[in-house]
Amino acid sequence: MTKIECRNLRKVFRIRDQSFEAIRDLNFEIASGELVAVVGKTGCGKSTTLNILLGLERPTDGRLAIDGKEPYDDFDFFRGKLSVVFQTDRLLPWRTVLQNATYGLEILRVPQQERTEKARYWLEKVGLTQFENAYPHELSGGMRQRVGIARAFSIGPEVLLCDEAFGHLDEVTARQLRADFLKLIRETKKTSLFITHDIDEALELGQRVLVLGKPARLLMDVQIPPGTTENPAKQAELKSRIIQVIESDGPGKKE
Ligand SMILES: Nc1ncnc2c1ncn2[C@@H]1O[C@H](COP(=O)(O)OP(=O)(O)O)[C@@H](O)[C@H]1O
Ligand SMILES: [Mg+2]
Repeated sequence: MTKIECRNLRKVFRIRDQSFEAIRDLNFEIASGELVAVVGKTGCGKSTTLNILLGLERPTDGRLAIDGKEPYDDFDFFRGKLSVVFQTDRLLPWRTVLQNATYGLEILRVPQQERTEKARYWLEKVGLTQFENAYPHELSGGMRQRVGIARAFSIGPEVLLCDEAFGHLDEVTARQLRADFLKLIRETKKTSLFITHDIDEALELGQRVLVLGKPARLLMDVQIPPGTTENPAKQAELKSRIIQVIESDGPGKKE
């Protein structure tokens, strides 16, 4: 069943008399339960696509719909259905780990006891039970990102979105977090879209990788056979194919 449908999506930003095309003609479909990585150069329109999915931006043309509905027009329908893990943790510094993890549930007006139970469940899943009373500044970057993951899962979203979620972490921490995140996604069978500029990360996480050109449009849609990342030769071959496709797209001129 199609969960996310992107049809002839186009986004042009206008700043005074200048216009800038961030998304040219983007088409893809994501089925329920799929884990898809979206990879493309910096500035190719990935976050803009995510913002349209979140209902924060309106498409200039075309449509991007979840369950047949467009987030910008149906903002209320999407309450509690989507969660995002951003690159920076976006935690509230004056709240404890537990209070941060319950934040989304609070906005959804879930009763206090239930939201504490749910948040604790997910904090345990990400290994932070002992830190529930700590404040963000007392945690490492990786731990803060784990709080963000717990917060995202706590609301029980149908779709989980990640925008460069592990992009600023050191490689060892990022790798561990990716593995743990993947496990949670598989356990919950959530539809998820993982945006990254890192091709290895895309191959590690996605069952399928969408490669975007600049401005955003689909250059390549590739299924990742299970076990690819355990096979360095196979991973290297796929990676070089993806790099070739991105490079052949040209330097990404600003119109
Ligand atoms: N609100 C905005 N107004 C004007 N230009 C924007 C806006 N948001 C993004 N852009 C431009 O659109 C392009 C794509 O940005 P973005 O989606 O953030 O790329 P990515 O996430 O792939 O790095 C960039 O060149 C960026 O400067
Ligand atoms: Mg971005």
